[in-house]
Amino acid sequence: MSPSPALRTLRGLAAAGAVAGAGLTTYAAWEARAYTLRHVSVPLLPPGHRPLRVLHLSDVHMTPGQTRKQEWLRGLSRLEPDLVVNTGDNLAHMASVPVVRDSLGPLLDLPGVFVFGSNDYFAPSLRNPLRYLLPDDGKRNTHTPQLPWRELRSTFSDAGWLDLTNRHGALEVAGTTFAFAGVDDPHLDYDRLEEVRGPADPAADVRLAVAHAPYLRVLDAFAADGYDAIIAGHTHGGQVCLPGVGALTTNCDLEPARAKGLHRHPADSRDGDPGSTWLHVSAGLGTSPYARIRVACRPEATLLTLTPRRS
Ligand SMILES: [Fe+2]
Repeated sequence: MSPSPALRTLRGLAAAGAVAGAGLTTYAAWEARAYTLRHVSVPLLPPGHRPLRVLHLSDVHMTPGQTRKQEWLRGLSRLEPDLVVNTGDNLAHMASVPVVRDSLGPLLDLPGVFVFGSNDYFAPSLRNPLRYLLPDDGKRNTHTPQLPWRELRSTFSDAGWLDLTNRHGALEVAGTTFAFAGVDDPHLDYDRLEEVRGPADPAADVRLAVAHAPYLRVLDAFAADGYDAIIAGHTHGGQVCLPGVGALTTNCDLEPARAKGLHRHPADSRDGDPGSTWLHVSAGLGTSPYARIRVACRPEATLLTLTPRRS
């Protein structure tokens, strides 16, 4: 007996759904490898200073087998930025430290600063990918083996990059003085804000604060202390976004509207308001190796061009 028209319709819909699902999965796997350089201008230098180029890297989540990502990263040294800011989550494998070092290559010879994220400290594990789309469950991935973060810290520090883990730092870059503050990963509650609170150095030309995860308590503190900009990662820009809508989640308490890109903090403040600062959040270059998908959210590095303020 041949199936009824209703059953044929249901089977047809199921087949179409399976094809669409497979197509979306294939696309999402392709997009996770579609590395993109984003350009952003931030007017925060004192008048008269020459523009400076800051390369913001975040959430690389490197494994030794990710050769396309390694090649793309190696190409970034051609940008010859004045400063590199690395906001953590570099690793996704026990053997990745030399791979990250080789991929960064000449970037390690430039002035740089860094903080770590949870994926520098703890190995990734297979978890429900939908977890990323749901409200934060409060569970932290701290029961997996430790990644070689000490080796990574030595690699960056030995190259001359400033470790901003719950500490201050200062650099002079092409005649412009920077005062930095950073915290350890707020997503793991490793931030020790009390170690870095206090007015940002008024004598510096630029005051930059750095954190892996842009939790509001950290943004509020750095904005109140007078930092010109806060630079962060962690959100993956939402990772799986709806075209025309954007991010559904940030994996922290920052609202999805600021999941990536350049914004103000507080969000409704303006340049020149007391306690208002620039906030740049990178969508990052990677994903968990167990969920290498992105939708409407290209993996990215950002070249921030710091320009003079409009006085
Ligand atoms: Fe990450």
